[in-house]
Amino acid sequence: PTSQAPARSDGFTDIGSVADLAESGSLRYQDAKGNGILVVQQSDTPEDVQAFSSVCTHQGCNVSWKAKDKDIFCACHGSRFATDGKVTEGPAETPLQQYLTKVEDNRILIKM
Ligand code: FES
Repeated sequence: PTSQAPARSDGFTDIGSVADLAESGSLRYQDAKGNGILVVQQSDTPEDVQAFSSVCTHQGCNVSWKAKDKDIFCACHGSRFATDGKVTEGPAETPLQQYLTKVEDNRILIKM
C-alpha cells in the first residue's frame, strides 16, 4: 500500500496498523517525494517496529525483509542489513537510512 496520509502536527505520519504489519511481516510505503520505506517487525512484540529506506546503499535496488533470518536483504548483489540498518554483508558499505518510529493506539507512526 502506498496511500498518502498527511503528516501530523508532531511530524509523524500514520502508515498503517500494527495488525497489518504483524500479518505480513513487513509493509512498504512511499514518502511524499516517492522514496521507498520498508517497515518491519523484528520480534513478536507488536510495538517492535523499525522503518528503513528501502533503497539499497550499494546501487539503489529495493531491499526486502527476510522474516526467517530477521534481516534485510538486497537481491541485486546480496547485501544484508541488520535491524539497526547496519551492513552485515557487502558489497554495501553504508547503513540503511532509518526513520524514527513509534506505535500509538495500534497505529504505526513514522517521522519522515
Ligand atoms: Fe543492493 Fe548492490 S544494489 S547489493
